[in-house]
Amino acid sequence: MPVTCVIGLQWGDEAKGKIVDLLTADHDVVVRYQGGSNAGHTVVTGGQSYKLSLVPSGIFRRNVQCVVAGGVVLNPASLIDEIDGLTSRGVRVGENLIISDRAHVVFPWHVEEDRLLDKLCDGGEAIGTTMRGIGPCYRDKVGRSLAVRLGDLYRPGLRERIAQIVQAKRRILAGMGGAAEEGSLDPDQIFQAYEQHAARLRPHVADTTVFLLDAVEANKRILFEGAQGAMLDVDHGTFPFVTSSNSSGAGVSSGSGVPGRYITKVLGIVKAYTTRVGGGPFPTEQDNETGQHIREMGNEYGTVTRRPRRCGWFDAVAARYAARLSGVDSLAVMLLDVLSRLAEIQVCMAYELDGRRTTTFPSHVDDLRRVVPVYEMLPGWQTDITAARTVDDLPEPARAYLARLGQLVGRPIEMVSVGPDRDQTIPVPHSFFRP
Ligand code: GDP
Ligand code: IMO
Ligand code: MG
Repeated sequence: MPVTCVIGLQWGDEAKGKIVDLLTADHDVVVRYQGGSNAGHTVVTGGQSYKLSLVPSGIFRRNVQCVVAGGVVLNPASLIDEIDGLTSRGVRVGENLIISDRAHVVFPWHVEEDRLLDKLCDGGEAIGTTMRGIGPCYRDKVGRSLAVRLGDLYRPGLRERIAQIVQAKRRILAGMGGAAEEGSLDPDQIFQAYEQHAARLRPHVADTTVFLLDAVEANKRILFEGAQGAMLDVDHGTFPFVTSSNSSGAGVSSGSGVPGRYITKVLGIVKAYTTRVGGGPFPTEQDNETGQHIREMGNEYGTVTRRPRRCGWFDAVAARYAARLSGVDSLAVMLLDVLSRLAEIQVCMAYELDGRRTTTFPSHVDDLRRVVPVYEMLPGWQTDITAARTVDDLPEPARAYLARLGQLVGRPIEMVSVGPDRDQTIPVPHSFFRP
């Protein structure tokens, strides 16, 4: 039975939501296992567009069990808003959504710390976080002493626990230069709000680790929905300009509790170009008319924060590293239609560092800042491809472009997307675009 992982191979927003929604037709369970409301996954179905941050993108299919596993950091108010938004549009969110009692809870102090800390980072260049308190919540999880898990909200002593944490956080925030005046973090108000959120979420809360272990042992078809992308992985990405979880394939087991040996397939998702939101080096960035053109054609504005996304050419050095790191079997190449008007398209096939050519992705951002991309120029197709439904419908230059991407990344292409709708997807026969 398939146990499939969908992993972004760039810096997020690769259109994972679209692919997860498509693949859920063949899965029984869909699992979010890391990240939090920093994620914004778009699903377009029945002419309607939905933005999901915490709810798995399997929520639109009947008979699919959605799971938010313990590796996720959970802002209860955001989740409740999301559930209400879905319900008001006729999407059923009931026992088809379960949430781990092990998930760590995001509190107002995390959001405040996010704001204060981003200013202090790396010699002045901000990480440019989504300001959702994600990093501070993960920091408290690893630090343990000031952490609260979802299951703790249902145990006695919560009021005292929150009061104790608030006392410590006031001092910490003041030390970071925050205005931690009396009343800015009111423990009673916070307790009351979280008690209400907890009551509201109670029917969804479960031990998802055991649920998922039972599911794999019962040969259920499981789909893991990665958030962010491999290049934002806290251990293997462009540190410190990363998110605070393992957003490469490495995070599936730790975040869900399902051992890696059960995974049967990893699908790596890439855009036909590259985008990045927030700070950090981006070798193939086109901070010029080309980047602007891609941004407008691809509507490249953040799903969560509406920030304009930085845009550039496909970086095969980074994507190949990400594919290897995540144990990728095959690729889905998304948003190919966005490049349709360009006469020429460049692909970065190597870097030059200190005068030497390399295809190894540097481990330190200082080196990544110094690399000079080596580009290969490919002809554009300059035709609308949004109606293409088979590989044969694609113009020859588009096929040649895909073939080259697969070759450079070192993985076969299994799917190509030419528009946001479910049906704007091209299944790729086994014989095409194999490296
Ligand atoms: P995710 O975070 O990886 O799920 O990606 P986002 O939802 O943040 O961003 C992807 C955007 O691209 C969404 O607005 C999708 O509706 C849109 N999209 C998905 N596939 C395609 C495609 O093939 N072509 C175009 N033009 N847009 C697409
Ligand atoms: P999806 O799942 C794109 C980026 C932020 C920032 C860095 C750290 O939609 O692909 P954080 O708030 O996580 O501490 O921010 O990571 N980032 C994303 N970029 N897509 C995402 O999610 C992202 N989630 C976080 O912009 O640079
Ligand atoms: Mg997104």
